[in-house]
Amino acid sequence: MTNSGSTTRLAFYKQIFRIKKPVLNGKKRRLKEANTIYDLRILARQRTPKSAFDYTDGGADAELSLQRNRQAYEDIEFRPRVLRDVTNANLETQMLGKLSKLPLGIAPTGFTRMMHTAGEEAGSQAAAARGIPFALSTMGTTSIEEVARLAPNGRNWFQLYIWKDRDRSTQLINRAKAAGFDTLIVTVDAQVAGNRLRDVRNGLTVPPTLTAKSLADAIPRVNWWWDLLTKEPLEFASLLSWQGTVADLMNTMFDPSVTFKDFEWLRNEWDGKLVIKGVQTVEDARLSVDAGADAVILSNHGGRQLDRAPAPLHLIQETVREIGKDAEVHVDSGIMHGADVITAIALGAKFTWVGRAYLYGLMAGGRDGVERTLDILESQMQRTMKLIGVNSLEELTPDVIKFINKN
Ligand SMILES: Cc1cc2nc3c(=O)[nH]c(=O)nc-3n(C[C@H](O)[C@H](O)[C@H](O)COP(=O)(O)O)c2cc1C
Repeated sequence: MTNSGSTTRLAFYKQIFRIKKPVLNGKKRRLKEANTIYDLRILARQRTPKSAFDYTDGGADAELSLQRNRQAYEDIEFRPRVLRDVTNANLETQMLGKLSKLPLGIAPTGFTRMMHTAGEEAGSQAAAARGIPFALSTMGTTSIEEVARLAPNGRNWFQLYIWKDRDRSTQLINRAKAAGFDTLIVTVDAQVAGNRLRDVRNGLTVPPTLTAKSLADAIPRVNWWWDLLTKEPLEFASLLSWQGTVADLMNTMFDPSVTFKDFEWLRNEWDGKLVIKGVQTVEDARLSVDAGADAVILSNHGGRQLDRAPAPLHLIQETVREIGKDAEVHVDSGIMHGADVITAIALGAKFTWVGRAYLYGLMAGGRDGVERTLDILESQMQRTMKLIGVNSLEELTPDVIKFINKN
């Protein structure tokens, strides 16, 4: 072999046996290797006790709503247009009068520090850094004032469950106002707790308890337990401690007698933007607007409340037709991919929210994991927009979507 021949061969070998610089930080490596929300879900499952993972992952009863929420997004086909300049696909949107860098926010979730002690700190700070909204739940595990302190430049929203004790609700509203939260979300699909059978079977307590039975589950998840035992104890954003199950707590606190009439009281207490979450029919969307809502969130609570509820994706078009001129239509439940967000926006939704996609990232790696969730969703949204041939969210129209498998 000539000299130049052996040099070429050496270069060829180098190309094949490329030794990559190892990423020594285990968490960073794990997260970098997660390319989808489902990859994050696998990591989440490995790292979180079964009862806390199932509380997040599960739905009500036979989990039909949970499955159908996903199925709805999977049963669409795009009508891509080609040969358009898509160099600068832009994901920004004006939502309720302010700019959001992405058409997506972090939905309110209860008991978040049970999934990972970084909890609302990770969520609110990651959202603030991206320029997207973060919603703190009444059942959150960080106080209203603490979220305001942790993410002072964030667009922080408070989600209210109307309590039997109206004075307690008023106090929460006033605290949110004083802390600078500009929007109140009132969730209306939890008249009673959904029947979450995984929690019943796991005997879920908050925080999870370590028993002889759960020891085998705890040993490979020792980091989670170490965190729980050494970080700030789990406390609630707006209530004193609770010893019973999640379902008992919801049933004790929430008021099943709330009606649209109660919004007269609420509108007197709260003069900021008002969003009603958990709307599942066109009629109720109209009543919500009449009751003073600036936006409705079409949501079945991620399939955690009524089983066999409609998939919110299927409600978007008719709701926009009915109230689109008077209020914004947002949607959540089942969003696990950036293409899902693009689908919802194309059908007419103004904005989308994610619950589990954020929590899987959180459980997989705290704040870094939430960042990974947002990275994944953002790059999926960008790529989808370019591949269907649009440059901005305004260019998305229902004619880019075709429903398949729909009778
Ligand atoms: C673990 C968990 C806790 C939740 N807690 C609340 C809550 O306290 N208040 C609320 O309005 N919605 C709550 N939700 C519902 C979310 O706000 C959102 O509607 C739902 O997660 C969207 O569906 P997705 O998980 O498929 O994205 C919760 C959802 C999950 C997964």
